[in-house]
Amino acid sequence: MAEYVVEFGKDGRPVEPDGRLDAAAFHRNHRAIWAVLEPFLAGKSGDVVEAGSGTGQHVVDFAGRSPEITWWPSDLNEQHLKSIAAWRTHAGLPNIRPPLRIDLSDPAWCPQMHDGRGPARLLAVFCANVIHIAPWRVAEGLFAGAGRYLPADGRLFLYGPFKRGGKHTAVSNAVFDSSLRERNPEWGVRDIEALQQLAAGAGLALVETAEMPANNLVLVFGRANAA
Ligand SMILES: C[S@@+](CC[C@H](N)C(=O)[O-])C[C@H]1O[C@@H](n2cnc3c(N)ncnc32)[C@H](O)[C@@H]1O
Repeated sequence: MAEYVVEFGKDGRPVEPDGRLDAAAFHRNHRAIWAVLEPFLAGKSGDVVEAGSGTGQHVVDFAGRSPEITWWPSDLNEQHLKSIAAWRTHAGLPNIRPPLRIDLSDPAWCPQMHDGRGPARLLAVFCANVIHIAPWRVAEGLFAGAGRYLPADGRLFLYGPFKRGGKHTAVSNAVFDSSLRERNPEWGVRDIEALQQLAAGAGLALVETAEMPANNLVLVFGRANAA
């Protein structure tokens, strides 16, 4: 079981009796993230997988705004899977599927992605605040799976703090990076150029970079030959 840095319920609201966790960061970032996802999803119907959903709050919010999209949350942490399921029940939205158990360090993600029980018309993969709080092999698996499952016009939306050309974009990100590496030497804020290399190996390329509040970014990857 991978470790994770955020102990939901400590910096957000207390854990609900049904297991719903709250991430304080969700309240600060979901509107800005949706502003990047929305133009791509507008007018489309199909499936979106969220990798490393954590509490499950992003999927619930986004699903409420996009009834034509079927959302597939996922995680590998038991408590988080329980929280995602509880948020799904609480929301009662018909366009959220039960959480998939995906270990992103496995390039195949999970059997449902390729045995017919998972998304049939994958439009996009969304992943927020995961790859810096996990070993590099998680980033490798994320890109490998996205490259395998996304169609020609699909997109991978990757939210978080990133380095540019090996340099931090803000002092706060440098401090955060140090705290991550102290906690686990395999963690750390990732470099955009290193991610572009991973993407290239998976047949993907960076097609857009969107500035987010608090020195975060959304990196948008599409098919290299269609980008
Ligand atoms: C900081 S939380 C972010 C959660 C959520 N995306 C958000 O923005 O609130 C990181 C998440 O990545 C998940 N995670 C870590 N390693 C993973 C792996 N190998 N496969 C899938 N999820 C993983 C953790 O369980 C946790 O839910």
